[in-house]
Amino acid sequence: MPKFNEPLTLKSGVTINNRLFMSPMTTQQSFYNGTVTRDEIEYYSARAGGVGAVITGAANVQDGGKGWPGELSIASDLYLPELQALAKGIQAKGAKAIIQIFHGGRMTSSATLSGKQPVSASAVAAERPGAETPRAMTTDEIHATIAAFGEATRRAIQAGFDGVELHGANTYLIQQFFSPHSNRRTDEYGGSLTNRYHFIKELLASVFAAVDKYADRPFIVGYRVSPEEFEKPGISFADTLWLVDQLRETKLDYLHLSLNNYTRKSQDPAYQEQSMLGYVQAELAGSMPLIGVGGVRNRTDVARVLASADAVAIGQQLIFDPTWAEKLLSDKDDTFVTAPFADLIDTSALNTPLREFVRAMITSRAARIAAYRAKSK
Ligand SMILES: Cc1cc2nc3c(=O)[nH]c(=O)nc-3n(C[C@H](O)[C@H](O)[C@H](O)COP(=O)(O)O)c2cc1C
Repeated sequence: MPKFNEPLTLKSGVTINNRLFMSPMTTQQSFYNGTVTRDEIEYYSARAGGVGAVITGAANVQDGGKGWPGELSIASDLYLPELQALAKGIQAKGAKAIIQIFHGGRMTSSATLSGKQPVSASAVAAERPGAETPRAMTTDEIHATIAAFGEATRRAIQAGFDGVELHGANTYLIQQFFSPHSNRRTDEYGGSLTNRYHFIKELLASVFAAVDKYADRPFIVGYRVSPEEFEKPGISFADTLWLVDQLRETKLDYLHLSLNNYTRKSQDPAYQEQSMLGYVQAELAGSMPLIGVGGVRNRTDVARVLASADAVAIGQQLIFDPTWAEKLLSDKDDTFVTAPFADLIDTSALNTPLREFVRAMITSRAARIAAYRAKSK
């Protein structure tokens, strides 16, 4: 089992100082058009000490992929100077800077898109209150989005980031193409598992082509995936293991399994012997490092994640306890912030958009978990 303070060398050749990653978290601190703000740079820089790498919140690769107001954008060269300042602000603390690149697909709204209808693989609304029905993307639009992920990778390289993480999780566009719920297409991008993987395959080719063409240094490409969906039809855990089989044949530097709790088991009765993290690690069979996440608050959690993964991502603990990683590295565990996150929202030094966003995330997540528990009783 790896130790959290051991370095991690990736396929690309990048060595990360230790196994602690700041988990990607949207903070709504960018300007209205997606330009990074000084507040945002300060926020990341304050949390970059001690972690091996910071993964930024999701940055949209196209205007139509914007998920929230105040979201980071990497959709235009206009944003390069501020993106460069963000990468530098993180790296100045000794951490690698990885920017998460994404497209919201159907998980956005026409209000966020200044009146435009959201797009997705198919015209199927998400199963959540108030979800809008998206417009199915044309083949040309699919090609343009795939090219936009390549362009975003070029910008990340030019802005001085150490890598990109493809956001293939949390129900956004990349996941929407793999899901039989949101993807009902009858062309080469829909139908069988292989066809639903087609978008991801082309996306990876576009991103790696940008790395080959523009990177003058080793550059990280990671991939975040959610393990299963509750919708019927939806992505099953077996589908995800199939996806892992495809991804392990690629040049990806790491796989990041998105979970709210690292101990979580699959809803599928066929996979109850270990956590989903454990199954994914077994499926990867050492082909690339796995990052585990979800509910890490102390040293014991870190060790438990590392029993089934190669690195640990920390989210909310770092929002409320910015120097938590430094405290862990210097054995100052007694100074960890331990209160429930909901109790910390009003007492922490968070600016207004971030505080309200975090409040909404924490309260809606609590409501979702309660609804899920009620349903599964
Ligand atoms: C405020 C907030 C924003 C988030 N934004 C993102 C995001 O942009 N991309 C992503 O992949 N996950 C996002 N997440 C999920 C986290 O990366 C992480 O997986 C989750 O919070 C569980 O880890 P934790 O218990 O350590 O917070 C977000 C979570 C929170 C609380």
